[in-house]
Amino acid sequence: MNADNETLLRASFFDFTRTVDQPEALSDAARYFADGLLTLRAGKIVSLESWSSAALRVDSRRVTDLRGKLIVPGFIDTHIHYPQTEMMGAFGEQLLTWLNNYTFPVEQQYHCATHAAKMSDFFLQQLLANGTTTALVFGTVHPQSVDALFSAAERLSMRLIAGKVMMDRNAPDYLTETPETSYQQTRALIERWHRRGRLGYALTPRFAPTSSPQLLERVGQLRREFPDTWLHTHLSENPQEVAWVRELFPERNGYLDVYHHYQLTGARSVFAHCLHLQDHEWQCLHDTGSAIAFCPTSNLFLGSGLFDLKRCWQENVRMGIGTDVGAGSTFNLLQTLGEAYKVGQLQHYKLTACEALYRATLGGAQALDLDDKIGNFAPGKEADFVVLDPAVSPLQQLRHGNSKDIFEQLFVLMTLGDDRNIAQTWVNGQPVWQKERAGSTPGCCPHTGVPG
Ligand code: GUN
Ligand code: ZN
Repeated sequence: MNADNETLLRASFFDFTRTVDQPEALSDAARYFADGLLTLRAGKIVSLESWSSAALRVDSRRVTDLRGKLIVPGFIDTHIHYPQTEMMGAFGEQLLTWLNNYTFPVEQQYHCATHAAKMSDFFLQQLLANGTTTALVFGTVHPQSVDALFSAAERLSMRLIAGKVMMDRNAPDYLTETPETSYQQTRALIERWHRRGRLGYALTPRFAPTSSPQLLERVGQLRREFPDTWLHTHLSENPQEVAWVRELFPERNGYLDVYHHYQLTGARSVFAHCLHLQDHEWQCLHDTGSAIAFCPTSNLFLGSGLFDLKRCWQENVRMGIGTDVGAGSTFNLLQTLGEAYKVGQLQHYKLTACEALYRATLGGAQALDLDDKIGNFAPGKEADFVVLDPAVSPLQQLRHGNSKDIFEQLFVLMTLGDDRNIAQTWVNGQPVWQKERAGSTPGCCPHTGVPG
């Protein structure tokens, strides 16, 4: 392939050149080009270099000039529920009553493939409008919910991991299934979607309280049959939930042991929340190479608790950031990092912008065991990235202008920033979302109120 097939972008760039297991190593792994050149070809990164080292070689007429913008790797959302988009901001409940009063009735609607298709498109547009290029996503118990989401993601060439919820007890009849049905439907979905293009399948038992031992046995069987699928569930989010798991599984040594017993821990296992872990549970997460999805806005919104950022480094457990929409209150990872900072403050932990950005990019990729494919601008990686407008309001311009370095600029972005700062989102080497064009959304669907 010759250079005509290359895309050349000139802008500022920030990423991390390698994964780290201590926060002290982050500043060394961070890379910043105030004036850089990114070269793409066939959906992959060819190189990132300083403009000064490239300028003599490249034909500047072929360069797209984005000076004034900051380009970072696409944001990675390690825990989100697409069917809960339409119930964000549900008032007044904590986890278990929130599920019963709001979540289950909304998820019932996804038996309708038309509704699922409309909401899938809407959901993916929300991800892209917020600079998120990869997500680990819960569907509902209905296989058609996942067919709709994967179909929509495939049209966009997104790297997306998703799965059908598996649950067979402690939920309304209209959302429960038998272990056998759950197994068969999940198996068929894996065969249809797993490793198709950039898509991956996650076994998705909702959480221990809605899973019988027989169901978990079937999940374990699928994991053995399809060892490179992901496992995605909730763990230790709320004190009442933790106590309930102890009642339901008295023979197990705590909440995580329920999953561990059925061989559901390990690399590619992602546990959302992890707020009330015991010492041996941290140890188990580390020993098995399991990952955590830290969901700050959800944890604050549902009053679930404060994630221990310091302990996560100490125990050397992989961790990424999740929005957990719809318990989470935004799709936007910048805002989510701002809330993560406040969670740290409440525990006297100073979450730097460097650490926060790492968790939302390369660290998140590592949590999903995808750091060989996405998360930074290393040659050969898939070209998923976000073009940020670093200052879009008078206040942001004031604060950006008086920042002393890139780290302060990034901190201001995660404190004052939101979806207004997302200028473009690129997936697989193509611009799939641009702010300037996004205003012209067509009218709403008369049945669902969903734009499109
Ligand atoms: N635990 C079980 N299901 C859910 C869910 O849908 N959202 C959250 N936040 N926690 C859960
Ligand atoms: Zn969740």
